[in-house]
Amino acid sequence: MILPISKNALLLALVALICVAILGLVNQLAQPKIAEQQLKNKLATLNDVLPQNTASESLLADCILVTNEDLLGRPTPQAIYRLRDDGQISAFVVETTAPDGYSGNIDLMVAVTPEGSILGSRVLNHQETPGLGDKIERRRSAWIESFQDKQVSPDNKSAWAVKKDGGQFDQFTGATITPRAVVNAVYNAGLLVLQQPELASRPANCGAMQ
Ligand SMILES: Cc1cc2nc3c(=O)[nH]c(=O)nc-3n(C[C@H](O)[C@H](O)[C@H](O)COP(=O)(O)O)c2cc1C
Repeated sequence: MILPISKNALLLALVALICVAILGLVNQLAQPKIAEQQLKNKLATLNDVLPQNTASESLLADCILVTNEDLLGRPTPQAIYRLRDDGQISAFVVETTAPDGYSGNIDLMVAVTPEGSILGSRVLNHQETPGLGDKIERRRSAWIESFQDKQVSPDNKSAWAVKKDGGQFDQFTGATITPRAVVNAVYNAGLLVLQQPELASRPANCGAMQ
């Protein structure tokens, strides 16, 4: 004979099972919408860093994975998109990380010409302090646009610094660590493109990462 308390427990377990199944189903149904939204967000950011709305789904497909902890800030692969004009690469869009933010990693997207000129940059993720380090976000200030048209070269590292360190970029009042980290990461993204011309000829391999 089943005791009344066991009956209630069975009923509860059944309700819990049904709830889990419904949640799983809703999650599955939402996946394509989430993927579509992520794609739209990525295209919007690519268009933010590139001139004149040049980003399209073909740019997303022309993507290589590159691991270079020294210049891209992470021990894991980062995506680099290749913008082409008549087959010739006119820009690389580098996903990179400043590993030395005040509160850890700052993820960035940096568009750079094959000659090392910065076309644009945006912060993708960070945990910097609101009101201090978060001025690196475009919606908080225009500071992130100060890299536009700046040239990276192996000889001009000293100019790629905040003014407090003798360079050309503003720091923020009471917050030097965050902009210092971002300036360094943008420079390193440009340097990678200059140092590795073979990035242009590698077969696209981002596949499932996108
Ligand atoms: C609670 C707290 C949060 C802070 N957040 C940041 C931050 O997000 N980014 C930053 O650059 N500095 C931040 N600072 C200030 C740094 O500690 C440091 O004083 C400042 O960046 C100046 O660095 P410098 O001495 O290298 O010029 C914060 C300080 C405190 C007390």
